Amino acid sequence: MNLTGKRILVFGVLIETSMGYKVAEAALNQGADVILVNAPGKPSDIMRRIAKRLPKEPVACLSADITEQEDLRALAAEVGRHWDGLDGVVHAVAFAPQDALGGNFLTTPFESVATAMKVSAFSLKGLVRSMLPLLEKAENGASVVSLTFNAAVAWPVYDWMGPTKAALESVNRYLARELGPRRIRVNAVDSGPITTMAGKSIPGFDQLAKVWPERAPLGWDSSDATPVADTVAFLLSDAARAMTGQVLHVDGGFSAVGA
Ligand SMILES: NC(=O)c1ccc[n+]([C@@H]2O[C@H](COP(=O)([O-])OP(=O)(O)OC[C@H]3O[C@@H](n4cnc5c(N)ncnc54)[C@H](O)[C@@H]3O)[C@@H](O)[C@H]2O)c1
Repeated sequence: MNLTGKRILVFGVLIETSMGYKVAEAALNQGADVILVNAPGKPSDIMRRIAKRLPKEPVACLSADITEQEDLRALAAEVGRHWDGLDGVVHAVAFAPQDALGGNFLTTPFESVATAMKVSAFSLKGLVRSMLPLLEKAENGASVVSLTFNAAVAWPVYDWMGPTKAALESVNRYLARELGPRRIRVNAVDSGPITTMAGKSIPGFDQLAKVWPERAPLGWDSSDATPVADTVAFLLSDAARAMTGQVLHVDGGFSAVGA
């Protein structure tokens, strides 16, 4: 797996435990350059401080609300000032209002579902569309990777993030279909539970994390996102050049067994 010379945008770096941070770290270790992005205000301020801990300084730390077209347009212009093309985009963004999680499936109002869908699923299309002119300039074709939580089954406490991830996985396939002819690959990585800010904000997340090491044939360490980050790095690399529209399970094998 070699990312030497690859220019990668990682959207969704907050703190050191963030999937986005681990992906940026893995990409830098493999020789890539990265630009980091997070929502304006506090998230970006935190990101800028945390970015100093990465093995190499990011080319830039930028701000954008992933649901705002104007922000995404400005982001693409700013990225274009640093690089004349983009080899990879990582979408590590999710949000759901509290009443859409933790055992509220039957009572969640549509407005909360709509917010979760807009930030966590529709945003993949918005982000990719805004970066298209740059992605099309990648010499060996470009790669887009998002992060999901296996949407093939229903989980306790995950509630409306489940259908939201099902939508994300579907958007992943539709983008792959649309963009393959433009040499842009689009894949998702399904991660087992990792103790991040987003993870901890799901009431009852601990219960889910607890059963994982017992059931997964390879076991599971929910404090270690590096196996997930390494798989994202693989998908960003030319080694994955014939793969698109896929969801790769990095879950210790949990999804392969029934009990
Ligand atoms: N933690 C897990 O167990 C787990 C498992 C599978 C998949 N994932 C996925 O990994 C991805 C990253 O999540 P994480 O667990 O690292 O948590 P995290 O809280 O570190 O990352 C979520 C990021 O989304 C950003 N964000 C939220 N709303 C935004 C907006 N409107 N505009 C821009 N940025 C916004 C947050 O600032 C944050 O940086 C998510 O898609 C999540 O669903 C996480």
